[in-house]
Amino acid sequence: MPLVNMKDMLTHAWENGYAVGGFDLVGLEFLDGIMRAAEGERSPVILSLAESHFEYYDFELAMAASVAAAERSSVPVAIHLDHGASLESAIEAIRLGCNGVMVDASHHPFDENVAATRAVVEMAHGCGVPVEGELGYVAGVEGEDAERHPGEVVYTHPEEAERFVAETGVDFLAVSIGTVHGRMRGTPRLDFDRLAAINERVQRPLVIHGGTGLEDAQFRRLIENGVAKINYYTALADAAAERIRANRREGAGYTALLEGVREAVAEETARCMRLFGSAGQADAVLASAEPWRPVEHVIIYNVEGLDEAGVHEMMRHGREVLGRIPGVRRVITGEAVQEQARYRFAWLVEFVHPAVIKSYRDHPGHTAFADNHFRPVAGDRISIDYRVVE
Ligand code: 13P
Repeated sequence: MPLVNMKDMLTHAWENGYAVGGFDLVGLEFLDGIMRAAEGERSPVILSLAESHFEYYDFELAMAASVAAAERSSVPVAIHLDHGASLESAIEAIRLGCNGVMVDASHHPFDENVAATRAVVEMAHGCGVPVEGELGYVAGVEGEDAERHPGEVVYTHPEEAERFVAETGVDFLAVSIGTVHGRMRGTPRLDFDRLAAINERVQRPLVIHGGTGLEDAQFRRLIENGVAKINYYTALADAAAERIRANRREGAGYTALLEGVREAVAEETARCMRLFGSAGQADAVLASAEPWRPVEHVIIYNVEGLDEAGVHEMMRHGREVLGRIPGVRRVITGEAVQEQARYRFAWLVEFVHPAVIKSYRDHPGHTAFADNHFRPVAGDRISIDYRVVE
């Protein structure tokens, strides 16, 4: 499964002078096009799902497709929540399979941004998941995404960036140095001196939002100054829309209109991968990055002092409270098929990463359930954490 730890992926990019694209997808054509490009270019890739786009697709369904695409891919993939709006959405994204999350509190004053970001970092790090924060504000100018990023650009201040990283513990920092969400109007002017000063102080992978419309030489200078992730969307959406317009003819149906959209998305994505220098880096990333594999927390047990209805109620309650704990992907409760089985019942709790073994054990939701509802009736039990092996 070439889902890999996103922190390892971006550290490799940062140390080796290239950037990985965080390509926002808004449908299956995008997902397919982005993955075709990554396979064709032998490039690591970040499948990016922006909360600001959730009105256009079902996040849970898109995550299932993204996880499936990553599982069958031969190049390293990370799945990232872009522009996460709250702690709750970060928890949900991790539950559904994101192994990187962004918390976007950049429109709030510094202290509020720090508090909101730190809360996500504490939760996500307990799940082994790295976090991207944003300081400064990347506004929108033109194009379908611009209205989702209203207001004026606020540039990132280098000293504040250093303080922000120290106080929040973010793994990657999105900075504002003159890029905008959506299309550019005129020639983009980027403040590279500011970026160099931020890079000097922050010393970790930097992220650029608003990749659309930058010139080739600008991408190179961004990367030279510490940018290891470039978010890219509008140009993909424009290439897809242009293709649909070209397909328009009397009586054209839905599939006829979509013809060639995947290829158009793939072409623009592949161009970015060559430009960002990530093309050809897949094998090096696979060799250096932790494979992102779940852990199965298995308990088999017998019950004393509860009738069958009581056991089923205890299981239902457990599925509900344990399923909400950050880093838990799913909770399955089981009953032995064979009447004579040494152990009658089972829990199968899937954690997104080994880090969850500890954070789950210490979580108040788990300790309350275990101490009050489970352990008193299930003295006869075995529990083991299994790392998935491939
Ligand atoms: P563009 O749409 O300008 O490429 O920006 C994408 C982005 O930054 C998503 O977070």
